[in-house]
Amino acid sequence: MNKIRIAVQKSGRLNEDSMRILKEIGIAIDNGKDQLKAAARNFPLEVFYLRNGDIPQYLTDGVVDAAIIGENVLIEKGNDIEFVERLGFSKCKVSIAVPKNSTSNSLKDLDGKRIATSYPNTVTKYLEKNKIKAQLHTINGSVEIAPNIGLADGICDIVSSGSTLFKNGLKEIEVLFESEAVLAVSPAISEEKKAILEKIQFRMKAVLKGRNSKYVLLNAPNDKLTEIISILPGMKSPTVLPLAKEGWSSVHSVIDKGQFWQIIDALKAKGAEGILVCPIENMVL
Ligand code: PRP
Repeated sequence: MNKIRIAVQKSGRLNEDSMRILKEIGIAIDNGKDQLKAAARNFPLEVFYLRNGDIPQYLTDGVVDAAIIGENVLIEKGNDIEFVERLGFSKCKVSIAVPKNSTSNSLKDLDGKRIATSYPNTVTKYLEKNKIKAQLHTINGSVEIAPNIGLADGICDIVSSGSTLFKNGLKEIEVLFESEAVLAVSPAISEEKKAILEKIQFRMKAVLKGRNSKYVLLNAPNDKLTEIISILPGMKSPTVLPLAKEGWSSVHSVIDKGQFWQIIDALKAKGAEGILVCPIENMVL
């Protein structure tokens, strides 16, 4: 049987989370450190461990069928490569920053100045769109030191926690876009492999949905049930089961992680007791 070839970052910020999501969708890979590729034991899939910046070209050429890659890299290098799923990890911004004491406080202040970046295509397009002319210095690593060594007046790089900017005395003045890991697809993928990719995507959706949800169980006095149920959306509607204790029910539901504390507070205020919250591994809708 044909195997789908998926590229993941060889090393770096996406590698661990990429391998984790493959594991969580039930794909078992024997993971040797310095391997170029590895086959899954229980799924028609091969993982190619590649350098981040090379992955878009491998996708374009059809050497790999799909990839887990940062949207920022796709935007910089991947001409017209599409993605089918946002994966919710490796979130970052692509931003312009300048030294803290710089008089530049906005993009237009960089007109006529020098910007160092590993994202020349992205920056060029952005400056053109905003009608700013700046001199670009393309460098491949440690962009953040460029202003301190006199190479540039500002930088454009990815910002995640912001600690690199902080450590180098830089301030963010413009966010070009926000990025996260995505599941990208080669334009050359065959129909047969597309069907395998759809299975992967289906499983990933279930895992991601599970990560963003919590299962809640609570006890409620029957006279408060209607009010409590109105707070809990559930997948269809909450499950309500009678407790052995007269006048009480057990209510089960799924809630969004983002609204978690807000919902718990509201439930308590309405008289819910014994609230248990459990993680969800997968949610198949
Ligand atoms: C990126 C970027 C910054 C840093 C920002 O480098 O170039 O140096 O992350 O992250 P922070 O806001 O959490 O400090 P990365 O670690 O991906 O490696 P790279 O230098 O190879 O790009």
